[in-house]
Amino acid sequence: MAEQSKHEERSAWSGKLGFILAGAASAVGLGNLWRFPTLAAKYGGGTFIFTYFILAFTVGISLLLLETALGRHTKLSVVGAFSSLRSRWKFVGILAALVPFIITPYYCIIGGWVTKYLFSYVAEGSGAVAAEGFFGAFITDPVFTYVFMIIFMLLCIGVVALGVQNGIEKANKVMMPLLLIMAIGISIFVLCQPGAMEGAAYYLIPDWSMLSGELVINALGQMFYSLSLAMGIMVTYGSYLNKKENLAQSVAGIAGFDLVVSFLAGLMIVPAAYMALGLGDGGTMNAGPSLIFVTLPGVFEGMGGAATIIGIIFFLLVLFAAATSAISLIEACTSIIQDETKLSRNKSLAVCSIFVIVAGCFINAGYNVLIGIEPLGPGTQLLDFFDFISNSVMMPIVAVLTCVFVGWIIKPKTIIDEVRQSAKFSLAGVWTVIIKYIAPILIIIILIVNVVKMFVAPELLATSIPDWLFHVIYSMSPEDALAAAAA
Ligand code: PHE
Repeated sequence: MAEQSKHEERSAWSGKLGFILAGAASAVGLGNLWRFPTLAAKYGGGTFIFTYFILAFTVGISLLLLETALGRHTKLSVVGAFSSLRSRWKFVGILAALVPFIITPYYCIIGGWVTKYLFSYVAEGSGAVAAEGFFGAFITDPVFTYVFMIIFMLLCIGVVALGVQNGIEKANKVMMPLLLIMAIGISIFVLCQPGAMEGAAYYLIPDWSMLSGELVINALGQMFYSLSLAMGIMVTYGSYLNKKENLAQSVAGIAGFDLVVSFLAGLMIVPAAYMALGLGDGGTMNAGPSLIFVTLPGVFEGMGGAATIIGIIFFLLVLFAAATSAISLIEACTSIIQDETKLSRNKSLAVCSIFVIVAGCFINAGYNVLIGIEPLGPGTQLLDFFDFISNSVMMPIVAVLTCVFVGWIIKPKTIIDEVRQSAKFSLAGVWTVIIKYIAPILIIIILIVNVVKMFVAPELLATSIPDWLFHVIYSMSPEDALAAAAA
């Protein structure tokens, strides 16, 4: 191995397929499995799916194209990509680079939970996992949460250590097709259960009365997270791509794969939850951990003899989804360290690993020894705090600044020329409008909504978004706005 990265060649994908699979592997993660189905169930099924589809294939693809082209153009990870084009804009690269450093540790904590569930399904069977209190008892365990988190981390670090082609590509070539097959298999199984068709209808048939500003904002937020945008991952991945590969087609493949898995996740989870939670009769489904760690094991247990095997397949699927995303996060962090410090790839990975393990232990302590710290109010943990800062605040800020940087500072032509190196880009005009105007405006709205929801007035969001945005714009106090909105 070369000692210095100057002599070490930059990693590269073996080809377009490796790149698409890696992008899809990063994109497909817990967001597809626990957020998409919940949002779809909440916002009129097909109505949400349709809106999400439109957004992903306009704004989503445009931003994916922007980030990957920026990476390929500069052949650098995100900090270098910004600073090499305009040194004053380096801060945006730094902000973007911070996001994966914040997300990786806590994403791996959840990866540890998934590993533990898979382990328990295999070792103890469905009855034990579905027992009351299993989840709560586990996540507050002061020893085993650390053990499983570290097992999950080492697994992902191991793949990154094998390199881009020998590690990441090979792992994805196995895990992604299997993930798809398992998702299809479980969907079919769930749909064959008695009563499932009603749940499927609930998921698929659009209820257009649910179409609202609130729905669009939620769909947009979901799209950002799900496509792993605004955190430097796609810039790094683009920087490993050969100039001759068709970028526009590749990013469409990534978004398509991501959408298919989200859709399938809904097909397996919404009918199951429909039966278990009475969604049709006003029951609600919570996004997040409780859905897959509490509700679903309960549903599986009700399926009789198949419960354990379904649980194993389901958690293996979740493990693959979480691991492939965590691998992309670790790769992005490593590549940033490597580019900025000029350490070798292996040394950079070692630095990254130490950081991730130490930070992961700290955040995990929020569930046991540091449980007294409730950073976002009663009942919240350190993990919630870091999730909020990275996803709800930093990602939108980075996304807006990135659009401004490309749309107004270096000018869209730089990116268009990059895309045209390998393909016709006949939609360059539409893309430019999205990057310069549409995306930044939509993202600023998401940012305002996220912050208002968390700190100013959560109740406000119960009213329709356009209403209260109107009041925000006319600068009334939230209390007055709320009163006015209620009147
Ligand atoms: N896109 C992943 C998901 O849908 C989440 C993720 C976020 C992955 C950030 C990597 C980086 O769950």
